[in-house]
Amino acid sequence: MSNQQTQTAKSSSNFLRPLKACLLPVVMALSIGGSSILSSAQAADGMEELKQVLKGQIDMMKPELADKVKGLSTDTKMQLMAILAMHSRYSDEATLRQVMLEVLADYQTMVMGIMTDSNEMAADGARRLANHRIPVGGLLPYMGMENITDDRLAVLGTFNDSVEGNANKLADAAAAGDMATAASLLGDITSGCVACHAVFRSLPGKSDLLK
Ligand code: HEC
Repeated sequence: MSNQQTQTAKSSSNFLRPLKACLLPVVMALSIGGSSILSSAQAADGMEELKQVLKGQIDMMKPELADKVKGLSTDTKMQLMAILAMHSRYSDEATLRQVMLEVLADYQTMVMGIMTDSNEMAADGARRLANHRIPVGGLLPYMGMENITDDRLAVLGTFNDSVEGNANKLADAAAAGDMATAASLLGDITSGCVACHAVFRSLPGKSDLLK
């Protein structure tokens, strides 16, 4: 683990600080469909921790949203937990809009690093982007009630893979000084941002006072 990651992990709340270590086995188990290299006890511990995180988020929600989330399928809940497990920075106060602006700043830093041939700048920006803060209450409270269905949320995992997954790949490429590969991943990351916005977001700042 790099110093920078250690520091960001430290800024998580006490409750969630040990989360990443516990969850790693679960993410691996989820992504490779039941791993033979991990004990099932390890995976079970991590899964229990993840359930608690999701439960903590649901406890913060108003009943109308909480009921909808509780009614989601096990598949959808597993997917939500897999996304949460990829992050170690949980905020008690940030809204999704604040997180998104920070993500944009990290994205720009990553591009600046590529454009100035700075391996460190590109890699650090990309790693911060991939491990962006999770807003208070999780992602769902900001998605709109109409989007809290199994069908709509089924695409979240794909968007997460194209943004976070490719940002981590970009970080590795940049750290190894391979800017050509790093640059080629920008398109996939950007497509992930745009695809998620197309499904879950309307035009930012649109006024309802215009005819
Ligand atoms: C999981 C889906 C998802 C992904 C992936 C995603 N966004 Fe967003 N983004 C949203 C949602 C939802 C909003 C609207 C939030 C709100 O208004 O409460 C948003 C809003 C924004 C905004 C507008 C903020 C504002 O002030 O209104 C920016 C800028 C942004 N995203 C940048 C990005 C960038 C850059 C990426 C990719 C690196 C990205 N987003 C990836 C879901 C996503």
